[in-house]
Amino acid sequence: MTMNVYFATMTGNAESLATSVVDEFVASGLEASLVDMGKVSPSDLTKTECAVFIVSTWGEGEPPNDADEFWSELEFAALDLSCMHYAVFGLGDSGYDEFNGFARDLDERLKVLGAKPFMDRVDADIDYSDDFDDWEARVLKHAGAAMGADLSAAMGADLTAEMS
Ligand SMILES: Cc1cc2nc3c(=O)[nH]c(=O)nc-3n(C[C@H](O)[C@H](O)[C@H](O)COP(=O)(O)O)c2cc1C
Repeated sequence: MTMNVYFATMTGNAESLATSVVDEFVASGLEASLVDMGKVSPSDLTKTECAVFIVSTWGEGEPPNDADEFWSELEFAALDLSCMHYAVFGLGDSGYDEFNGFARDLDERLKVLGAKPFMDRVDADIDYSDDFDDWEARVLKHAGAAMGADLSAAMGADLTAEMS
């Protein structure tokens, strides 16, 4: 099983955090791939069992330019993502009206398509490093344990504990 680490970025913050997650998984002996949302199609998600999304927000609550096409397809695609467990980490700036607007929209859309969050979304602000360190450690703990065992059984249990 591979953890797919998706990122959408404009100025590189989300990509560097996504690279860190991949490095941590690999250092723990788990498989992980770095995926640029600007280079894939949402239909790839139907083959993904375990994913994290690290995305920034630009414009007025919009995705980074490179992820525009991915998002406009995902918004209207009738995909069945019921096999996917995921977590979202948003990068934004609370000085903007649509704080983490893209992370919120993405999280909501994934849920509508049947994907199951294994952790609550984190909406991080400009000073995101502490939130990220905490989120990354939890991702490794939850997803790592689940990937070492059976994903649905292990994540189902974690999900119940985490979301309650
Ligand atoms: C022109 C501009 C528009 C932005 N718009 C938003 C926004 O609507 N909502 C938000 O939460 N953050 C917004 N941000 C903040 C960025 O999302 C934040 O700086 C983030 O860390 C950038 O990450 P990236 O390098 O991965 O793109 C904006 C930043 C700039 C410079």
